[in-house]
Amino acid sequence: MTSPEARDRRVMQLYEQLLEIERRLIPTGLHIFGRPSKATERAGMLKMIASFPRPESGTRGLPELVAEGLGLGLEQTPGGSPVVTEVAAREGDRIEAIVSEAINQFELDGIEAAVASLAQRANLPAVHSRTVFTLLETISQQLETNSEIEALLRALRGEFIEPGPGADIIQNPAILPTGRNTHAINPYAVPSAVAFARAEVVARKLLERYEAEHGRYPRSMALVLWGLDNIKTQGEGVAQVLWLLGVRPIADALNRITSIEPIPLAELGRPRIDVVMTISGIFRDLFSPTVQLLDKAVRLVAQLDEPDEMNYVRRHVNEQVMEENCNRDEAATRVFSNAPGNYGTNVNFMVMDSQWEGEDTLGDLFVTRKCFAYGRDSQGKTIEGVEARMAMDRALARVEATYQNIDTFEIGITDVDHYFEYLGGISKAVEKRARSRPAIYLSDTLSTDAKIRSLEETVRLETRAKTLNPKWYEGMLQHGFRGVAEIEGHVSNTFGWSATADAVDDWVYTEVAKTFVLDETMLGRLRRLNPHPAHALIGRLLEAQGRGYWDAEPEVLDQLREIISSLEDQLEGVA
Ligand code: BEZ
Ligand code: MG
Repeated sequence: MTSPEARDRRVMQLYEQLLEIERRLIPTGLHIFGRPSKATERAGMLKMIASFPRPESGTRGLPELVAEGLGLGLEQTPGGSPVVTEVAAREGDRIEAIVSEAINQFELDGIEAAVASLAQRANLPAVHSRTVFTLLETISQQLETNSEIEALLRALRGEFIEPGPGADIIQNPAILPTGRNTHAINPYAVPSAVAFARAEVVARKLLERYEAEHGRYPRSMALVLWGLDNIKTQGEGVAQVLWLLGVRPIADALNRITSIEPIPLAELGRPRIDVVMTISGIFRDLFSPTVQLLDKAVRLVAQLDEPDEMNYVRRHVNEQVMEENCNRDEAATRVFSNAPGNYGTNVNFMVMDSQWEGEDTLGDLFVTRKCFAYGRDSQGKTIEGVEARMAMDRALARVEATYQNIDTFEIGITDVDHYFEYLGGISKAVEKRARSRPAIYLSDTLSTDAKIRSLEETVRLETRAKTLNPKWYEGMLQHGFRGVAEIEGHVSNTFGWSATADAVDDWVYTEVAKTFVLDETMLGRLRRLNPHPAHALIGRLLEAQGRGYWDAEPEVLDQLREIISSLEDQLEGVA
């Protein structure tokens, strides 16, 4: 029998999960080039922007200010960002309602109305809230105007386009106005001090999560690093690797980050984790000095005179040199990417085209595409995309956990096929080589309080917040034919997580079938708007069942087969 306490805890956990889904910010529709965002979208975005402290603008997050005004305590995380306490978390609904109302007031009647609303409902001193709304006013005006088309025409005429930073709008509202010439980043400034501080919390939580589930830290992890993500976050992914290895970045006399130094074990308080990095072609091209830095970090850690149980990089390199009689340079290879001039894993294409038999093929393809080493050997000679399949196989054979960071609310693991091609692809490659499926994690650094989730949890959350959420799919269907393709894309990307990691629950496919296919009205809409992706969606569901990822009811299958053949008739009639 469960105790009343255990029952209460379970109810509280369920409540928190519901809140997590409810509060998740999702894009409700696509951006139309040249058009400013609608008032409702703007309100959602402003609310999210106002949730974060913005030291660069001297403002604090509204939920934090409201919690304080209501007399609910604040705690500091080790990374220094304030989080609301458990009491405040329970008061979350109230805080949320007060913040939403203030944002609505602001949209309707301007800064002073919003300031008054917060003073009255949360005792918030006007000086604190006014700075936040002054910032929001600038952002709101920038969202209301849009000169993308004009800028495109100027660019086509060869005229000057003002530069602007490339980032996620929530992370850095300075990307507004859009329609500027996006500039990326100075690789020598990566990782920034803020990125390094934020990454400490993520790396710690990642290791704690693994430890809670496995009783010890992982000895080796495989990480995926993307270029655009590291641009947006000024190198949070890079910084996470450095924390796992237990090193910190060092700037040279020109203030360029070109080196690292070990964090002493006594300070680190845990073993150094071995890290295998797969970097995208874009990262390789944009962050060449960073690629060198990461390789250098591994080689430095491998040389430290430390006990094996506190330095897994050294331990693994030594073991490999002894057992396989290979040289240290080869045994310490950890940075892998495509061959020079090549991009991507092709795992996504193979899955999308259904052109595969066994799942191992997907992991093998990943390695074939990504087994090119980058860095510098002990003689100082650069290694610029040298095929190193054996070294990669060997490094992956030790991996116990795989991981990728998500840093934007706009693109999640079922929005594009790139997450499963990378994180799914590497996880499948590890599974064969290590003869065991790795633990697969994603972090979510969207909120001030970074979250680690298993892949399965993330698939469930994305499914509930997006694919099966009427707010999301109705938003997409407003775009007509494109919306149907977006829905089909989400279902196929979800399928990609079955193929590469068997991480999708049966209910996901069952609910997709019910929502989009077995509901006659919905099916009618999809068929009218765009029958091709509607056909592809049903085909994907049948493929999920055929490959053993979905234990579907026989009647449901019969219905799907019947519907797909009638769709085929419709499409042939069109052709
Ligand atoms: C990148 O930014 O590195 C990236 C973007 C899309 C797909 C894969 C990688
Ligand atoms: Mg299953």
